Amino acid sequence: MLDIKSYVVIKKQEIKEKISKLVIKPCLCVVQVNDDEASCAYIRGKKKDCEEVGIIFKLIKLDANTSEKELIGLIDKLNLDDEINAILVQMPLPKQINEDKIKQSIIPRKDVDGFNKLSNYIPCTPKGIIDYLDYLKYDFKSKNAVIINRSNIVGKPLVNLLLNKDCNVVVLHSKTSKKDMQYYLNNADLVISAIGKKYILSEYNFKKDTVLIDVGISRVDGKLYGDFLPNLDVKLQTPVPGGVGLLTRLSLLENVMEGIKDGI
Ligand code: GUN
Repeated sequence: MLDIKSYVVIKKQEIKEKISKLVIKPCLCVVQVNDDEASCAYIRGKKKDCEEVGIIFKLIKLDANTSEKELIGLIDKLNLDDEINAILVQMPLPKQINEDKIKQSIIPRKDVDGFNKLSNYIPCTPKGIIDYLDYLKYDFKSKNAVIINRSNIVGKPLVNLLLNKDCNVVVLHSKTSKKDMQYYLNNADLVISAIGKKYILSEYNFKKDTVLIDVGISRVDGKLYGDFLPNLDVKLQTPVPGGVGLLTRLSLLENVMEGIKDGI
């Protein structure tokens, strides 16, 4: 079975080849307001990915005291700028700025995060997971999928994507009891968890033919951990780190490419 790292190498090479044939290169503009270490690390990763495949990467760094009005003013300008195909405002934002308002201010055809309700794009993490399983020729039909997350950018989009693939879909969350959790997991063929607490699912049992997709990432003493204990006796388990995070990064590049298909 093709591991995620090798899959990402193949897909990035495909993007690089497509871009090498373009006269006008696509451009992603990242807006950073928060200067915390995690945001800086995410942005460094996006810059490296873009440069690797030939997407022009622009970073606009704003002062942490920037007002909501100023940020929306900048986004309005970027929305109209023909040289910018894609806009990403790095989250989280400082307290004085309403994140929802910012998400809705990016025009749908440039909202490569897929955060805007009307965005032209599938949010990067759900897209990355489904595309990878598709590549592995995973047969979704009639499978019992359990999603442990109900957010707008992971759990909810996954519900639609999996229903469209004829899965039976159950959504569990922080208020689900342990008893119910085990009840649904006993019968799960595909489990996608995005809780973000080290080995939080270690007390549950899974069938040997289950596929476990670990979206959870938690940092403890500088080391990264997933929601599942590593190396469980199942059909497929994505690692942390080096798993879904890489798929999410790949999807961002693919969404930027999707945006130039119609000649934005
Ligand atoms: N902060 C952490 N991950 C992300 C992401 O994928 N997109 C944005 N905009 N902010 C983030």
